[in-house]
Amino acid sequence: KENVHDKIDYVFKVVVIGDSAVGKTQILSRFAKNAFSFDSKSTIGVEFQTRTATINGKVIKAQIWDTAGQERYRAVTSAYYRGALGAMLVYDITKRQSFDHVARWVDELRAQADSSIVIMLIGNKGDLVDQRVVHAEDAVEFAEEQGLFFSETSALSGENVETAFCKLLEQIH
Ligand code: GTP
Repeated sequence: KENVHDKIDYVFKVVVIGDSAVGKTQILSRFAKNAFSFDSKSTIGVEFQTRTATINGKVIKAQIWDTAGQERYRAVTSAYYRGALGAMLVYDITKRQSFDHVARWVDELRAQADSSIVIMLIGNKGDLVDQRVVHAEDAVEFAEEQGLFFSETSALSGENVETAFCKLLEQIH
């Protein structure tokens, strides 16, 4: 738990991006509050949550920004990406289109964010095994081509969420 006596070594800004309804907000609440909601409302504008974690002996405060995937709600300007050191690019393993759009999100990151940004591709909703349409191998191949890290997560069960965020934070600096 975070308290006033914690000595923070670094503050890292991380952005979460990806199509609408892939689970961006829920992945973030799982990491920041260990919480999950089934009736998650679509994000309007920009919100952020923080979580402090110790990575390689350093206390890191992650300031994680979440925005709407829906085009009409996106208040995303270069301000959203400004100063971001890491990005979680999320798709839904049960929605082919959300994976097909990943390349566009990478283009947006390359255009708007700092060139040294660390990108973690996330295939979320790993708990919905029966509804899977995106194979992990395809995502691994794309991630390798593009120089991204990759993980499959479930915000619902919590599987891999902590590991993925910590891995991303570890790769920054
Ligand atoms: P926008 O704010 O519109 O961009 O959506 P988002 O990407 O933030 O999605 P959100 O976190 O609101 O989740 C969308 C829906 O998917 C909600 O009903 C969530 O409960 C559900 N959901 C999110 N993550 C998971 C998961 O890992 N497994 C399952 N089964 N459902 C999930």
